[in-house]
Amino acid sequence: MTTSVIVLAAGKGTRMNSALPKVLQPLGGQPLLAHVLATARALSPQAIHVVAGHGMAAVRAACPGDDLHWIEQAEQRGTGHAVAQALPHVAKGTALILYGDVPLVPPRTLAALRDAAGDGIALLVMQAADPTGYGRILRDAAGRVRGIVEERDATPAERSVREVNTGLMAAPVALLRRYLPQVQPRNAQGEHYLTDVVALAAADGAPVQVVAAQDPDDALGINDRVQLAFAERTLQRRRAEALLRAGVTLADPARLDVRGELLCGRDVFIDVNAVFEGRVVLGDGVRIGPNAVLRNCALGAGVEVLAFSHLDGARVGDRARIGPYARLRPGAELACETHIGNFVEVKQATVGRGSKVNHLSYIGDAEIGERVNVGAGTITCNYDGVHKHRTVIADDAFIGSGSELVAPVTVGEGATVGAGTTLRKDAPAHQLTVGGGRQVSLPHWRRPAPKDRDSG
Ligand code: UD1
Ligand code: CA
Repeated sequence: MTTSVIVLAAGKGTRMNSALPKVLQPLGGQPLLAHVLATARALSPQAIHVVAGHGMAAVRAACPGDDLHWIEQAEQRGTGHAVAQALPHVAKGTALILYGDVPLVPPRTLAALRDAAGDGIALLVMQAADPTGYGRILRDAAGRVRGIVEERDATPAERSVREVNTGLMAAPVALLRRYLPQVQPRNAQGEHYLTDVVALAAADGAPVQVVAAQDPDDALGINDRVQLAFAERTLQRRRAEALLRAGVTLADPARLDVRGELLCGRDVFIDVNAVFEGRVVLGDGVRIGPNAVLRNCALGAGVEVLAFSHLDGARVGDRARIGPYARLRPGAELACETHIGNFVEVKQATVGRGSKVNHLSYIGDAEIGERVNVGAGTITCNYDGVHKHRTVIADDAFIGSGSELVAPVTVGEGATVGAGTTLRKDAPAHQLTVGGGRQVSLPHWRRPAPKDRDSG
């Protein structure tokens, strides 16, 4: 039996109070809809139809993929109306309907839902501690499901039901084609509710199965920012637990944010409040200090990142030491055993094995050899206001503190640049190059005396 997925993602998300379409609100660093699509793809369905409407161009742009078939629902007249827009495009077989604002359902639960549908409807339900906002499952005296009532349309007795609709449903396409046209917008919102298909089909004797979400948090529906924040913590807790199980030590699993993909070797230690974005790879034994931010980085084995460092697009060799308060920007490539210290910024630069830039420096568009020592306060003056120029520092060079290297400029192998030099021409290998004016001292100079207070 072929399965087609229909994802409903056209709603505005009024309760978010946001300019962003709801399904683009970020969760764990990705739009809500991207989570739903990833889960759909895990089932390898025959097709994935996405019903979009509000902010459709932005939604499409944020969720690319050749495997997606987009359907416009220009006016959002309810979840039933949304599915009706998709139906003409859906092949015979089973339709699995997912909501763009229900992002945490695991693929195995969806597979169970798909398999439970058979000739009838399968609903994913959960027992909610607080059912507020969800549609309630209505059962008859024999316990058979007879319909779903939305909170706004429910009687007080119906509202007390804790068994709620997650919104996710599987059913034969033919069944939806039969009952959806019969759905009427007779409800508090004046919308065509997909959920009304259940009562219509049940009244006709079609089987209605329920599949219960294993963990109520799996089926969280996100309508406002309170629910979004709760879902974010749920996702982060799950990511932290997966890291702990894989052998990573977290100083506090509740104070970690992974907003992308974090791949760790063995015995990695991550201190509190670290934030990981994009794809970050940490080698064996890496230690990440408190309040570090790492985006799209690869760190070799035994690297130590000290507190408050910010690494973006950097590659760092084994046993290097970064920070505290270091900033690595895209194109920073540090070899093994390098040291980048406090208030040092490195951008588009390679730093060779064993080299050190320990204090208050800017290294941009540079190539630094091995065993180089860059003194405190050294600046590569890489930008002339129009173009960027390169600085090359060969192996074993020593740059005295407070130097300015005006690019393009080269420091030769084993060269020494005296402290406070403004280097405008190349510094030859193995020589001492000192710049700046000649130092003078005036022996007879006196500081002006302060005015005598009494003489006023
Ligand atoms: C819906 C269910 C409710 C369930 C809850 C679970 C209905 C009528 N109600 O309520 O039983 O408990 O989800 O989270 O289905 N959408 C469209 N086009 C539309 C309307 C909505 O694409 O015209 C999309 C939205 O973008 C959203 C999803 O469908 O992704 C659900 O719509 P929403 O308005 O959030 O429904 P709920 O009120 O949460
Ligand atoms: Ca919703």
